[in-house]
Amino acid sequence: MSVLDLSFRDAGDLEIDGIIQLFRGFIDGDILMTFLNEVSTFETRRVICRTENVSYDEQIVPNDSLLFKFFNSSKILSLSKKILQTDKELKSMLCWTSIYRKDEFINPHMDRTGDIQLLLCLKNDGFGEHGLFCFETGYKARAIFLYPGDLIFFKAKEITHYTTPLIETDDKNAPLRIVAVSRQFFT
Ligand SMILES: [Fe+2]
Repeated sequence: MSVLDLSFRDAGDLEIDGIIQLFRGFIDGDILMTFLNEVSTFETRRVICRTENVSYDEQIVPNDSLLFKFFNSSKILSLSKKILQTDKELKSMLCWTSIYRKDEFINPHMDRTGDIQLLLCLKNDGFGEHGLFCFETGYKARAIFLYPGDLIFFKAKEITHYTTPLIETDDKNAPLRIVAVSRQFFT
């Protein structure tokens, strides 16, 4: 059984074993608001996983959106190539948002496709042990609290990853955690 290392959750920019890289505050507040406004216009569908109690909302990010263009920008792609240590050009990209509400989370899994995956946090009403992004390297599970504007690159095919459930509080009875995801294919 893995041990959850919560000391990681407030780490600054970090890079681990060349398989995960976090940039705190990658986008500023104005761009964040633009993206949040934009995603509020996207169509939403419900994802119901076979794993019990795992269900959340998802949105396809259209190719002509600002969010898609952000993930497809030369700045982002050069970072992806640097992390992957490849000279190859991007072949294709899938882009979506995942929206978690009260009690929602995603269970531990590895993704089946994609050379690298990016998560851009747009909103996170989690706190403490709630709404964390967790991933396993070796025997240890590490937890990161992604703040709005943080961007993380990781090899989702190689690292088991999951999130912890959001809970409601007196202040927030409808907590939200929204991440925009880019799955990139270079091969
Ligand atoms: Fe995943």
